[in-house]
Amino acid sequence: MDKECKYSQCLLLLLFACKFCLSKGVDTLSRGQSLSGNETIVSKDGTFELGFFATGRSNNVYLGIWYSSLAPKTIVWVANRVEPIFNTSQTSRLEISKDGNLVLLDHSGSIAWSTNLVSAPASSVEAVLLDNGNFVLRETSNASNLFWQSFDYPTDTWLPGAKLGYKMLSSNNSYEVQRLVSWRSTDDPAPGMFSLVLDTNTSGSEILIQWNKSVSYWNSGIWNGSMFPSAPELKYLINLTFVSDQSETYYTYSAFESAVVLWRFVMDTSGQLKLLQATRGLGYGASALTFTQPIDQSDVYAFCGEFGVFTGNYSSSCTCLEGFESTNDGVPGCARKTPQRCKTNTSPERGNAGFLPISNMKLPGNPQSLLVENEGGCKSACQENCSCTAYSYGGSGCLIWIGALLDLKQAVDVQKKLHLKVATSEIQVPPTDNSGDKKRSTIIVAVVVPLAAAILGGFIIFVTWKIKQRGKNSKESSEDLLSYDFDSSNSETDIETKNVNDVRQGKKGGLILPFFSYASVCTATNNFSAGNKIGEGGFGPVYKGKSLKGQEIAVKRLSRGSGQGLKEFRNEALLIAKLQHRNLVRLLGCCNEQEESILIYEYMSNKSLDSFIFDPVKQMQIDWDTRISIVQGIAQGILYLHEYSRLRIVHRDLKASNILLDSEMNPKISDFGTARIFGGSDSKTNTKRIVGTPGYMAPEYLLEGLFSAKSDVYSFGVLVLEIVSGRKNTGFHNSDSLHLLGHAWELWNSKRPLELIDPSLGCPPDVAPLRCINIGLLCIEENPNDRPTMSDVVSMLGNELAALPSPKQPAFTAIRPVINTKSISSNDQKFSVNGLTISSVEPR
Ligand SMILES: *[C@@H]1O[C@H](CO)[C@@H](O)[C@H](O)[C@H]1NC(C)=O
Ligand SMILES: *[C@@H]1O[C@H](CO)[C@@H](O)[C@H](O)[C@H]1NC(C)=O
Ligand SMILES: *[C@@H]1O[C@H](CO)[C@@H](O)[C@H](O)[C@H]1NC(C)=O
Ligand SMILES: *[C@@H]1O[C@H](CO)[C@@H](O)[C@H](O)[C@H]1NC(C)=O
Ligand SMILES: *[C@@H]1O[C@H](CO)[C@@H](O)[C@H](O)[C@H]1NC(C)=O
Ligand SMILES: *[C@@H]1O[C@H](CO)[C@@H](O)[C@H](O)[C@H]1NC(C)=O
Ligand SMILES: *[C@@H]1O[C@H](CO)[C@@H](O)[C@H](O)[C@H]1NC(C)=O
Ligand SMILES: *[C@@H]1O[C@H](CO)[C@@H](O)[C@H](O)[C@H]1NC(C)=O
Ligand SMILES: *[C@@H]1O[C@H](CO)[C@@H](O)[C@H](O)[C@H]1NC(C)=O
Ligand SMILES: *[C@@H]1O[C@H](CO)[C@@H](O)[C@H](O)[C@H]1NC(C)=O
Repeated sequence: MDKECKYSQCLLLLLFACKFCLSKGVDTLSRGQSLSGNETIVSKDGTFELGFFATGRSNNVYLGIWYSSLAPKTIVWVANRVEPIFNTSQTSRLEISKDGNLVLLDHSGSIAWSTNLVSAPASSVEAVLLDNGNFVLRETSNASNLFWQSFDYPTDTWLPGAKLGYKMLSSNNSYEVQRLVSWRSTDDPAPGMFSLVLDTNTSGSEILIQWNKSVSYWNSGIWNGSMFPSAPELKYLINLTFVSDQSETYYTYSAFESAVVLWRFVMDTSGQLKLLQATRGLGYGASALTFTQPIDQSDVYAFCGEFGVFTGNYSSSCTCLEGFESTNDGVPGCARKTPQRCKTNTSPERGNAGFLPISNMKLPGNPQSLLVENEGGCKSACQENCSCTAYSYGGSGCLIWIGALLDLKQAVDVQKKLHLKVATSEIQVPPTDNSGDKKRSTIIVAVVVPLAAAILGGFIIFVTWKIKQRGKNSKESSEDLLSYDFDSSNSETDIETKNVNDVRQGKKGGLILPFFSYASVCTATNNFSAGNKIGEGGFGPVYKGKSLKGQEIAVKRLSRGSGQGLKEFRNEALLIAKLQHRNLVRLLGCCNEQEESILIYEYMSNKSLDSFIFDPVKQMQIDWDTRISIVQGIAQGILYLHEYSRLRIVHRDLKASNILLDSEMNPKISDFGTARIFGGSDSKTNTKRIVGTPGYMAPEYLLEGLFSAKSDVYSFGVLVLEIVSGRKNTGFHNSDSLHLLGHAWELWNSKRPLELIDPSLGCPPDVAPLRCINIGLLCIEENPNDRPTMSDVVSMLGNELAALPSPKQPAFTAIRPVINTKSISSNDQKFSVNGLTISSVEPR
């Protein structure tokens, strides 16, 4: 595929895609006709299309319905999800059989799927795809006489107008329950583990999300006539109606803006119910997520499958228990590396299996409770029973698990320890109670005793040294950065087990901010060697460091003479450490010794944003989705600083090199709060010192030294335009134009905004980049009062439907750029603000 595409073409596609996409299909399949190969039928208004589709993983072919104008193909219904066909030649086809049923015949002519109506419909029947996505089999002469409809048999999608509920069968007093059942994986429509269903026990007033049709892990709460307690926001998004009478009970919904927006509920493969919307006629897969439950991926039951462990909030966040490996069949789940020896329930596994203690784990679901006297009894009960996979003995007595372990989650839980049964060969250290041979014990004694002695000796020396150290800095001791364990220091529970001195900050501030010794920081950074330097930030150089455990850190050595005393520095650092948000770089510790002020941050493996967006090669690695999510992440981080943090910080130096990226390309803002350490903490104030970077500084700040949250909004606007265009604001040389902002404004005014977007990515998938340009321009308006607040920005980014105001002429566009990297220095006449410091322009 050609990645390049002409701008005009892009624009044309965005605006007129619907005209090209409406195919001239028919909407009806009559008796005697058949549908095969790539033939489709299309609903009258062109919204839905029915035909055959194949999925990525296999040659399986399915009959399904999708939105005819959305790309990528968005399937809303699958007929034969359980029984795929393998051939779409003319011989496999959909037709109306002699008895009036709709049937899907495979290449050999046998029935792969059928509407299975027992009482044969009238002779004159037809199958029609309606405008709402319902595929119906009806009487030709009477359109309201339906024999069958696809809305009664949903797969994972619930469309507006469809009913979701259950019928009461009077014949035998049982329910016929509809379920939305997730796909098995994103490219396999077979029924997966997660489903959405009405709770018959509460007469349908609650909606449940279940695992394996049995374990409910989310419920909507009781419908009160207008809303669900656990999903109150739904009320504002759709018009939900509950109907219950003797024969049936169901919910149905209509959308408020259905002329413009296509809505759908999807029971997702992530185990979450999602409400998605796409703009009608736009032609691109602009499906925006408007609602998700459960919000937190970690609340989905058994998301990681059998013996899988949930470790984080991303879809890639499943690992296997020790001794297990991934089954690699498209869905999460793990299997034993070494198969179990005992096959029958009667042969205990004594000798061949041992137990592996596992801590930091939430206990798995569905345990069985046993009455035994002590831990030994619990253990042997599990040992004796072939199907027992694990036991745990603790406050709640003896628990054992039979069969696969499910719903394992990494958690800090030191009280309960899980003992996992594995083959002896998987256990490195033999279990101590094993009546092992003498030889082995001799070896153990020979190795362990001297080792223990050595450790003990080392410990004594260490303690003595530590005491001496304490004597030196009698008041406050310093941690050794090299041996510090940042992982464990983050958890609340571990605080209790640490000694009092270590947690002095924890007790005071509810959070640990260790102070490290200068010597250990030196060692970790190889004496601040040039080789370890990874950048030069606004307040001093940044070095990469490593602790003895191999944990990587970023060490920021603040320029000398910050003008603050020891106590103030520590107080400020403590305040900054309390600012915690997923889009802010975390402060892990600090050092304040020998006139050095050093901050220690988490290390970001993907460096800073500017190393991607301005690099001709790497900029191709970040696609539109990533760029949009980076913009959103930055906005969230700034919003937190401005409005939700206790300090209400104005960053003052937002720029691409201050946005760091973690291994998953999540943006994290760095250098926030550092301005405070250098004094000047009031918002909207005439600063003593100007910190900032040319090209990102709002006019009122650059020219008058006035800063406010709106100056951050300005910098954010510049950043957004840089991300969308892949070009730097400063150093942008376009022969006949001004700098990037002026260029953006010109293009916007002449209705050619798409020409601004980074050509290395080709056509944008949807309107999101256009909206970003619009929002970016709003943020850089001349008058701070005209610029949106960060919470306005976040809501504009979040709601793809809301109309955006038109931007006014931005600052700095009427004049040629006066700001030139070289011409700025602290003694420049133009900027005679006291104590002005302009940080280095070079990315770090
Ligand atoms: C459908 O398939 C036929 C032959 O297999 C091919 O000639 C035709 O171009 C295809 N039509 C579309 C719209 O892909
Ligand atoms: C597809 O159909 C042809 C005959 O039409 C048959 O030879 C072939 O084996 C079929 N392929 C599969 C995968 O069933
Ligand atoms: C059409 O079918 C509906 C539903 O079965 C029925 O109620 C109605 O009377 C029929 N109308 C005619 C004209 O036959
Ligand atoms: C009740 O009858 C329906 C068919 O009318 C059948 O599908 C279902 O399995 C029956 N349920 C029970 C519990 O017998
Ligand atoms: C309804 O209640 C029965 C009995 O208490 C229980 O077995 C069943 O799982 C419940 N159904 C749902 C959907 O919760
Ligand atoms: C799901 O439930 C069925 C019975 O309802 C059971 O046979 C099956 O083993 C369960 N699946 C898993 C993965 O536990
Ligand atoms: C449902 O609950 C909401 C919030 O508690 C309340 O505002 C609303 O009036 C209730 N509706 C009815 C019909 O009781
Ligand atoms: C909601 O839907 C019901 C019936 O489906 C309809 O009567 C009602 O007018 C709708 N309300 C709104 C606000 O659209
Ligand atoms: C997932 O994220 C939520 C907040 O977004 C957090 O509260 C929760 O602890 C996270 N879960 C895990 C297992 O990391
Ligand atoms: C193993 O334990 C389960 C659950 O307690 C029990 O059903 C099964 O009979 C036991 N098997 C043996 C061999 O004891």
